[in-house]
Amino acid sequence: MSTPEAILWRDNRLHLLDQRILPGEVTYLPYRDAAGVAAAIKDMVVRGAPAIGISAAYGMALAALAASEGPGEAGWQATLAPARHLLAESRPTAVNLFWALARCDDTIARHNTSTALPRHLIELAQRLHREDLDINRRIGDHGATLLDHPQQVYTHCNAGALATGGYGTALGVIRSAFRDGNITGVFAGETRPWLQGARLTSWELMQDNIPVTLAIEGAAAQLMRQHKPGWVIVGADRIAANGDVANKIGTYNLAIIARHHGVKFMVAAPISTFDGEIDGDAIPIEQRPATEISHQGDRPIAPEGVNCSNPAFDVTPAELVDAIVTEHGVIRSPTRDKVLAHLAAARQETDQ
Ligand code: MRU
Repeated sequence: MSTPEAILWRDNRLHLLDQRILPGEVTYLPYRDAAGVAAAIKDMVVRGAPAIGISAAYGMALAALAASEGPGEAGWQATLAPARHLLAESRPTAVNLFWALARCDDTIARHNTSTALPRHLIELAQRLHREDLDINRRIGDHGATLLDHPQQVYTHCNAGALATGGYGTALGVIRSAFRDGNITGVFAGETRPWLQGARLTSWELMQDNIPVTLAIEGAAAQLMRQHKPGWVIVGADRIAANGDVANKIGTYNLAIIARHHGVKFMVAAPISTFDGEIDGDAIPIEQRPATEISHQGDRPIAPEGVNCSNPAFDVTPAELVDAIVTEHGVIRSPTRDKVLAHLAAARQETDQ
């Protein structure tokens, strides 16, 4: 059995696998407008940077389909501006969202007065969706070259098929390395408060028969000392020009613990996750509702009225990262110069 797809496009409707209730229930929710897609992203029906970007592109396509009056006098840019705004407001950290919206902007600008724009936006979203799977297989294979003997690894959150167009980024590396015989086991950190590690990563890996051991985040240092995994392998929501990496809260802790124990630290992400315009300290960090940590579902687990801090992401400084892996190859010990050179080479390769 393989992991169900996170995103489906059927009969001009978007269907999102409701990741909030996995692995207990496999249910797809249908969406017919951009407002619904924006709410689905905010409410974690769909999550993971690449999946958020792909969903936003479908959201723009739905907005164009729903505009039965067509582009109007002002053109599609004006007609679709409210939908674009809603989607852009949904989650702030994953730059893939803004990357996908920028790709939609290009398509809209090219067909601003054409009644064929809805079709062009659907085709764009489908292309981004399809390409992401291919990109992840390439990331996986590049990353797997860094594991040259059988070893255990540690991962955090879910950067798998469920977070992408398929195969995954961090889990893509793990899938490729397992295929090559170089993974003996995976520790999956549970990832409070949404438990992506417990609910999603361990489920995905078990479906592929990749041996996985679930652990609470607080066990990471002990596990690294005791089991000496070769690598921590994580995804990213935004990689800055200086090589700093925003990813699920707790990633920074893991990078510090890994360095202390001589465990190498790998970040696997597509080029669409890079933001060459800013450094790590300027990455916007999403603050999520207090009830996500003060409650379990509807049940309070902390005193009523307690102050809570619930940042969804943190930023790992580049000096703690041993390798960033993209579909274009590996950046070892990332620095600003290496990141910018990698982005320039990737652009050149894509343009050829
Ligand atoms: O809050 P989430 O579940 O969207 O956070 C997801 C992560 O932090 C992932 O590691 C990241 O988006 C990369 S997914 C390929």
